[in-house]
Amino acid sequence: MAVLRLGVLSSHGGSNLQAIIDACKEGRLHARCCVVISNNSGSMALQRAKNEGVPNYHLSGKTHLSSQQLDQAIRDTLEKHRVNLVVLAGYMKLLGPLTVSHYQGRILNIHPGLLPRFGGKGMHGDKVHKAVLASGDGVTGVTIHLADEAYDHGPIIAQTQVPVFKDDSVESLRGRVLKREHEFYVETLQRIAEGDIELSGL
Ligand code: GAR
Repeated sequence: MAVLRLGVLSSHGGSNLQAIIDACKEGRLHARCCVVISNNSGSMALQRAKNEGVPNYHLSGKTHLSSQQLDQAIRDTLEKHRVNLVVLAGYMKLLGPLTVSHYQGRILNIHPGLLPRFGGKGMHGDKVHKAVLASGDGVTGVTIHLADEAYDHGPIIAQTQVPVFKDDSVESLRGRVLKREHEFYVETLQRIAEGDIELSGL
């Protein structure tokens, strides 16, 4: 079993990043978090990477003037750390064509809902939970899919359901879904590491 060399991109809290790092440390996930990239210099995600001694980079429109330069810097940084699987974990930006084509079929994204419902541009985090509550659906969930150059787009590789209760608020639903995300990202990555889920690019 080859060790997955993960490059994690995260914009804000980085709780999924932490779940992945913890699982690697505890041997529940046969992978190594090789680098963390954030578009947000003040993110908890970068702080978590620093705390764990994982190489980390702030790469954004502030550090690179053109989107092409930024795209190239992200791809070069992933390559420099010999990443073989890119993990988007609460990354609120789109990747550019250089990165997407280089890592074709090897970029995962997690979404806090059951795609294709409640996805697309502007549908992230609490907006998803609000829309689920407004819909009256009795079930929501977590989707892990291969990412491309569009928001929440690409083949779904794993999905799990999470119940919605009548008295749920955005906060209670967010908490239940996020807890499941942490387990499910790790479980799905481990299935990839074991070859149970095959990614053509790996
Ligand atoms: C997670 O709920 C993730 O699914 C969501 O952002 C949160 C990030 O939390 N991503 C999206 O909505 C993407 N469309 P984290 O930074 O604590 O891992």
